[in-house]
Amino acid sequence: MSADLRTTYLGLNLQTPLVVAACPLTLQVEWLERLEQAGAGAAVLPSLFEEQIEHEEVELAAASEYGAEFYAEHSNWYPDPGEYRSGTAKYLEHIAAAKKAVSMPVIASLNGTTTGGWIKYARMMQDAGADALELNIYFIAANLDAPADDVERRYTDLVAAVNDSISIPLAVKVGPHFSSPGHMCRKLVEAGADGLVLFNRFLQPDIDLNTLETEPHLELSTAQEMLLPLRWMAILYGRVNASLAVTSGVHDGQGLAKALLAGADVAQGASTIYRNGFDRVPRMLRDLTAWMLEKEYDSVEQLRGSMSQQNCPQCAAFERGNYMKVLTKFTGRPV
Ligand SMILES: Cc1cc2nc3c(=O)[nH]c(=O)nc-3n(C[C@H](O)[C@H](O)[C@H](O)COP(=O)(O)O)c2cc1C
Repeated sequence: MSADLRTTYLGLNLQTPLVVAACPLTLQVEWLERLEQAGAGAAVLPSLFEEQIEHEEVELAAASEYGAEFYAEHSNWYPDPGEYRSGTAKYLEHIAAAKKAVSMPVIASLNGTTTGGWIKYARMMQDAGADALELNIYFIAANLDAPADDVERRYTDLVAAVNDSISIPLAVKVGPHFSSPGHMCRKLVEAGADGLVLFNRFLQPDIDLNTLETEPHLELSTAQEMLLPLRWMAILYGRVNASLAVTSGVHDGQGLAKALLAGADVAQGASTIYRNGFDRVPRMLRDLTAWMLEKEYDSVEQLRGSMSQQNCPQCAAFERGNYMKVLTKFTGRPV
């Protein structure tokens, strides 16, 4: 006996609900093939960054200008910008190569915070063959003069601009730091998001006490981190017209089951594959299947959202009740 693990995400048909999150695991075609064989339902490529695109364009323009000053016929010796094989060009080539190598959906990723010329890469990613685009808006609102409204408009303007430039589905990956995350998610969908990826992990800079410098560092996630996106999945399920993906802390088959129960169409994983290798993918799917069969769920479709707020209409009161219960029942003592 087996369970039907198929799911739909961003209008795409996936064989399983486990998606490889944007990270260098999807940067090599050979690894993409292994991930697909292992059972991944789709893969998100690492992000192309706004700053990376703009830096390259400035460098290219500067090089071209430099040539123009000294050589009237500079265009004969300096490579035509169109021929220049930059990091961005390699990214587009990788999309095309990935599409040739695997049959699971390949989702390209753009990472930025402003509406600007770099957005044209969304269209280029589509033209290179991407099945969908994930837009990661990683923005720290460090300007104390910027009210929340302005910050939120930055998000929705960006989503609208990217959405206008493509016809493939658009997923938007954001962090949890909004006064009203659910309302913000709804605004992102109104602006053009077909899917929401919750949540970005913010890499917090630490202070090095020896060098007195700040150092951002990347730590792989803990399973505990999944609880925050899990809560918001449960709150959003059935109330926004968008696909839903959990990212952060999905480490095992149990985590995958919880994401689906809360209402996610898919769960994205990176840290657990880094820690445990490619074999983690089939292991997670096996454990999900075994749990589904034990609980008599035939399919992901049947399971999805059965622990969402739809079974608890007074969710704010429920959440507060749980919060009070946990605090008042705590019996720990200091050692
Ligand atoms: C090495 C590494 C590189 C990553 N690069 C990107 C990236 O380029 N773009 C992006 O949106 N997320 C990136 N992420 C974040 C992951 O896509 C994912 O959202 C995050 O790691 C949480 O999932 P996890 O708990 O399964 O690791 C990266 C994560 C790791 C570990």
